[in-house]
Amino acid sequence: MLQLYPKAFPDEDLRPVVAALLELETDFDVLSMATFEDSELIAHVLFTICGTREVDKSGALLAPLGVTPSHQRRGLGASLVRAGLETLEASGTRQVFVLGDPAYYGRFGFRTESAVRPPYALPEQWEGAWQSILISGRTLLDEGPLFLPEPWMDPALWRP
Ligand SMILES: CC(C)(COP(=O)(O)OP(=O)(O)OC[C@H]1O[C@@H](n2cnc3c(N)ncnc32)[C@H](O)[C@@H]1OP(=O)(O)O)[C@@H](O)C(=O)NCCC(=O)NCCS
Repeated sequence: MLQLYPKAFPDEDLRPVVAALLELETDFDVLSMATFEDSELIAHVLFTICGTREVDKSGALLAPLGVTPSHQRRGLGASLVRAGLETLEASGTRQVFVLGDPAYYGRFGFRTESAVRPPYALPEQWEGAWQSILISGRTLLDEGPLFLPEPWMDPALWRP
Protein backbone atom coordinates (compact mmCIF):
# COMPACT_ATOMS: atom_id res chain seq x y z
CA MET A 1 0.00 0.00 0.00
CA LEU A 2 2.84 2.38 0.77
CA GLN A 3 4.22 2.19 -2.79
CA LEU A 4 2.21 5.34 -3.48
CA TYR A 5 4.62 7.42 -1.39
CA PRO A 6 7.87 7.17 -3.41
CA LYS A 7 5.82 7.99 -6.52
CA ALA A 8 4.13 11.05 -5.03
CA PHE A 9 7.22 12.18 -3.07
CA PRO A 10 10.27 11.14 -5.12
CA ASP A 11 12.63 13.34 -3.08
CA GLU A 12 11.56 12.22 0.39
CA ASP A 13 10.96 8.76 1.88
CA LEU A 14 7.78 9.10 3.92
CA ARG A 15 7.13 5.35 4.19
CA PRO A 16 8.74 4.90 7.64
CA VAL A 17 6.67 7.65 9.28
CA VAL A 18 3.43 6.55 7.59
CA ALA A 19 4.01 2.89 8.50
CA ALA A 20 4.81 3.81 12.10
CA LEU A 21 1.69 5.99 12.39
CA LEU A 22 -0.53 3.25 10.96
CA GLU A 23 0.80 0.85 13.61
CA LEU A 24 0.36 3.17 16.58
CA GLU A 25 -1.04 1.57 19.67
CA THR A 26 -0.76 4.50 22.03
CA ASP A 27 -3.14 7.06 23.43
CA PHE A 28 -2.97 8.85 20.10
CA ASP A 29 -5.10 7.90 17.14
CA VAL A 30 -4.83 8.38 13.43
CA LEU A 31 -7.47 8.77 10.75
CA SER A 32 -6.35 7.12 7.50
CA MET A 33 -8.39 7.63 4.30
CA ALA A 34 -7.59 6.12 0.95
CA THR A 35 -8.82 5.95 -2.64
CA PHE A 36 -8.31 2.77 -4.66
CA GLU A 37 -8.67 2.06 -8.38
CA ASP A 38 -8.60 -1.60 -9.47
CA SER A 39 -7.31 -2.44 -5.98
CA GLU A 40 -4.33 -0.10 -6.39
CA LEU A 41 -3.92 2.71 -3.88
CA ILE A 42 -3.99 5.98 -5.82
CA ALA A 43 -4.54 8.57 -3.07
CA HIS A 44 -3.99 8.56 0.68
CA VAL A 45 -4.21 10.99 3.56
CA LEU A 46 -3.40 10.64 7.24
CA PHE A 47 -4.65 12.78 10.09
CA THR A 48 -2.89 12.36 13.45
CA ILE A 49 -5.05 13.24 16.44
CA CYS A 50 -3.18 15.60 18.73
CA GLY A 51 -3.43 18.64 20.96
CA THR A 52 -1.46 21.33 22.74
CA ARG A 53 -1.55 19.51 26.06
CA GLU A 54 -0.61 15.87 26.40
CA VAL A 55 -4.15 14.90 27.39
CA ASP A 56 -5.79 17.00 24.69
CA LYS A 57 -7.00 15.20 21.58
CA SER A 58 -9.11 17.91 20.05
CA GLY A 59 -6.70 18.79 17.23
CA ALA A 60 -5.47 16.89 14.20
CA LEU A 61 -2.41 17.15 11.96
CA LEU A 62 -3.06 16.56 8.26
CA ALA A 63 0.02 14.81 6.83
CA PRO A 64 0.95 13.37 4.54
CA LEU A 65 -1.39 13.74 1.57
CA GLY A 66 -0.29 12.02 -1.60
CA VAL A 67 -1.83 11.25 -4.97
CA THR A 68 -0.10 9.00 -7.48
CA PRO A 69 1.26 11.22 -10.32
CA SER A 70 -0.89 9.65 -13.05
CA HIS A 71 -4.01 10.62 -11.08
CA GLN A 72 -3.08 14.10 -9.85
CA ARG A 73 -5.21 17.18 -10.61
CA ARG A 74 -8.44 15.21 -10.82
CA GLY A 75 -9.80 16.28 -7.46
CA LEU A 76 -8.70 13.17 -5.54
CA GLY A 77 -6.55 15.13 -3.08
CA ALA A 78 -9.32 17.66 -2.49
CA SER A 79 -11.92 14.91 -1.95
CA LEU A 80 -9.76 13.23 0.69
CA VAL A 81 -9.09 16.50 2.51
CA ARG A 82 -12.81 17.36 2.56
CA ALA A 83 -13.85 13.85 3.61
CA GLY A 84 -11.25 13.91 6.39
CA LEU A 85 -12.41 17.29 7.68
CA GLU A 86 -16.03 16.05 7.73
CA THR A 87 -15.08 12.90 9.63
CA LEU A 88 -13.03 14.90 12.14
CA GLU A 89 -15.87 17.37 12.60
CA ALA A 90 -18.22 14.50 13.42
CA SER A 91 -15.77 13.15 15.98
CA GLY A 92 -15.41 16.46 17.82
CA THR A 93 -12.11 17.80 16.47
CA ARG A 94 -11.78 21.55 16.95
CA GLN A 95 -8.83 22.57 14.79
CA VAL A 96 -6.77 20.89 12.05
CA PHE A 97 -3.15 21.77 11.25
CA VAL A 98 -1.09 21.29 8.11
CA LEU A 99 2.40 22.12 6.85
CA GLY A 100 1.98 22.64 3.14
CA ASP A 101 1.52 25.02 0.25
CA PRO A 102 -0.97 27.79 1.19
CA ALA A 103 -1.99 27.97 -2.49
CA TYR A 104 -3.35 24.44 -2.17
CA TYR A 105 -4.61 24.30 1.42
CA GLY A 106 -6.03 27.84 1.34
CA ARG A 107 -8.84 26.58 -0.90
CA PHE A 108 -10.17 24.45 1.97
CA GLY A 109 -10.04 27.38 4.40
CA PHE A 110 -6.63 26.77 5.99
CA ARG A 111 -4.96 30.00 7.14
CA THR A 112 -1.51 30.83 8.53
CA GLU A 113 -1.21 29.64 12.15
CA SER A 114 0.98 31.25 14.79
CA ALA A 115 -0.55 30.52 18.23
CA VAL A 116 -0.16 26.75 17.96
CA ARG A 117 3.34 25.79 16.90
CA PRO A 118 4.78 22.67 15.27
CA PRO A 119 6.99 20.53 17.53
CA TYR A 120 10.18 21.93 15.97
CA ALA A 121 10.89 25.49 14.83
CA LEU A 122 10.43 25.78 11.09
CA PRO A 123 12.99 27.28 8.73
CA GLU A 124 12.13 30.87 7.84
CA GLN A 125 11.09 30.02 4.28
CA TRP A 126 8.46 27.59 5.58
CA GLU A 127 6.80 29.83 8.16
CA GLY A 128 3.79 30.70 5.98
CA ALA A 129 3.35 27.01 5.25
CA TRP A 130 2.21 26.22 8.81
CA GLN A 131 -1.57 26.59 8.69
CA SER A 132 -4.74 25.60 10.46
CA ILE A 133 -8.48 25.51 9.98
CA LEU A 134 -10.98 25.94 12.78
CA ILE A 135 -13.87 23.52 12.52
CA SER A 136 -17.06 25.56 12.29
CA GLY A 137 -18.56 26.41 15.67
CA ARG A 138 -15.61 25.06 17.68
CA THR A 139 -13.03 26.92 19.77
CA LEU A 140 -9.34 27.31 19.05
CA LEU A 141 -6.84 25.07 20.80
CA ASP A 142 -4.75 26.65 23.57
CA GLU A 143 -1.58 28.19 22.26
CA GLY A 144 1.68 26.27 22.49
CA PRO A 145 3.50 23.49 20.72
CA LEU A 146 1.59 20.50 19.40
CA PHE A 147 2.09 17.22 21.25
CA LEU A 148 2.48 14.57 18.58
CA PRO A 149 3.21 10.86 18.80
CA GLU A 150 6.76 9.61 18.53
CA PRO A 151 6.86 8.97 14.74
CA TRP A 152 6.51 12.72 14.20
CA MET A 153 9.27 13.60 16.67
CA ASP A 154 12.04 13.64 14.08
CA PRO A 155 13.37 17.10 13.20
CA ALA A 156 14.16 15.89 9.67
CA LEU A 157 10.42 15.66 8.98
CA TRP A 158 10.05 19.38 9.74
CA ARG A 159 12.69 20.88 7.50
CA PRO A 160 13.34 20.90 3.73
C1 LIG B 1 -0.56 18.07 -3.85
C2 LIG B 1 -1.52 16.89 -4.14
C3 LIG B 1 -1.82 16.12 -2.89
C4 LIG B 1 -2.80 17.51 -4.71
O1 LIG B 1 -3.71 16.46 -4.99
P1 LIG B 1 -4.43 16.42 -6.41
O2 LIG B 1 -5.45 15.35 -6.35
O3 LIG B 1 -3.36 16.31 -7.46
O4 LIG B 1 -5.03 17.87 -6.49
P2 LIG B 1 -6.55 18.27 -6.66
O5 LIG B 1 -7.08 17.64 -7.91
O6 LIG B 1 -7.24 18.06 -5.39
O7 LIG B 1 -6.40 19.80 -6.86
C5 LIG B 1 -5.82 20.24 -8.05
C6 LIG B 1 -5.47 21.66 -7.88
O8 LIG B 1 -4.47 21.79 -6.90
C7 LIG B 1 -3.37 22.51 -7.44
N1 LIG B 1 -2.19 21.84 -6.96
C8 LIG B 1 -1.83 20.59 -7.15
N2 LIG B 1 -0.68 20.36 -6.51
C9 LIG B 1 -0.37 21.50 -5.90
C10 LIG B 1 0.71 21.91 -5.06
N3 LIG B 1 1.71 21.09 -4.75
N4 LIG B 1 0.70 23.16 -4.62
C11 LIG B 1 -0.28 24.02 -4.94
N5 LIG B 1 -1.31 23.69 -5.72
C12 LIG B 1 -1.34 22.44 -6.19
C13 LIG B 1 -3.45 22.44 -8.91
O9 LIG B 1 -3.04 23.67 -9.44
C14 LIG B 1 -4.91 22.22 -9.16
O10 LIG B 1 -5.57 23.43 -9.34
P3 LIG B 1 -6.28 23.70 -10.72
O11 LIG B 1 -7.01 22.42 -11.05
O12 LIG B 1 -7.16 24.85 -10.40
O13 LIG B 1 -5.15 23.99 -11.63
C15 LIG B 1 -0.91 15.94 -5.21
O14 LIG B 1 -0.66 16.66 -6.39
C16 LIG B 1 0.38 15.26 -4.77
O15 LIG B 1 0.34 14.17 -4.20
N6 LIG B 1 1.52 15.87 -5.06
C17 LIG B 1 2.81 15.29 -4.72
C18 LIG B 1 2.99 15.20 -3.24
C19 LIG B 1 2.79 16.53 -2.55
O16 LIG B 1 3.37 17.54 -2.93
N7 LIG B 1 1.94 16.53 -1.52
C20 LIG B 1 1.64 17.74 -0.80
C21 LIG B 1 1.61 17.46 0.63
S1 LIG B 1 1.64 19.02 1.49
